[in-house]
Amino acid sequence: MARITVIGGTGYAGASIVREAAARGHEVTAYSRSAPAEPVPGVRYEQGSMLDDEVRARAVERADVVVSALSPRGELTRELLSVDTRLGELAAAAGVRFGVVGGYSSLRPAPGAPRFADGDLPPEFAAEGRTMAAVADALLSAPEGLDWFFVSPAAQYGAFAPGEATGAYRLGGDVAIADADGKSVISGADFASAVVDEIDNPKHHRMHFSVAY
Ligand SMILES: NC(=O)c1ccc[n+]([C@@H]2O[C@H](COP(=O)([O-])OP(=O)(O)OC[C@H]3O[C@@H](n4cnc5c(N)ncnc54)[C@H](OP(=O)(O)O)[C@@H]3O)[C@@H](O)[C@H]2O)c1
Repeated sequence: MARITVIGGTGYAGASIVREAAARGHEVTAYSRSAPAEPVPGVRYEQGSMLDDEVRARAVERADVVVSALSPRGELTRELLSVDTRLGELAAAAGVRFGVVGGYSSLRPAPGAPRFADGDLPPEFAAEGRTMAAVADALLSAPEGLDWFFVSPAAQYGAFAPGEATGAYRLGGDVAIADADGKSVISGADFASAVVDEIDNPKHHRMHFSVAY
């Protein structure tokens, strides 16, 4: 059993990771500014803003693994890079593993190619995609002692396409993968399984990986 803190643990990605980790018997704490409408039994929900350094420090202490599932929206639109960077510094100092949930556009179309976010993106995704790509870039030069992972879902992942738990998924590196029909899809539950599998059985140290069918 691990002590897992999910920052943004009431959001789309965060809530499913919280649910999966709790179902496997981990000691789970979720941070967000507001309390969830439907709390998962057994999970400790803490309220506070990640713009507050005391809250960030509290979120990292007493954890074995911290997962940032924040999104660069609202008050974090311009602050997420510095918030995740600071969480990484705190995690490095405390010897805590640090995972970040990023986006599909942080991936690359081919090995060594620029990230999708470095090219033309639909305007509705562009700012968010570039911010999460900047977080991925920042992790590449994170303090040596930081055991980090950055995980990207498929393109068809999100509240618009929750899908179902199938128990199956494939892992890729920082290059986008697609299914036999050329589609990039993953359900919320299967993505959460992959993230908790990475916590239970770490394989990606200081690496960007992706999850899709
Ligand atoms: N297909 C894709 O590529 C795709 C699709 C969806 C998401 N994503 C990525 O997944 C990640 C998470 O996105 P999401 O859609 O799951 O996010 P979300 O649903 O917007 O959830 C954000 C979470 O952060 C919390 N939060 C917001 N501001 C905060 C603050 N200042 N301090 C503390 N907590 C705060 C929110 O709760 P409160 O508002 O109560 O604080 C909520 O729990 C992002 O990197 C996003 O780009 C990728």
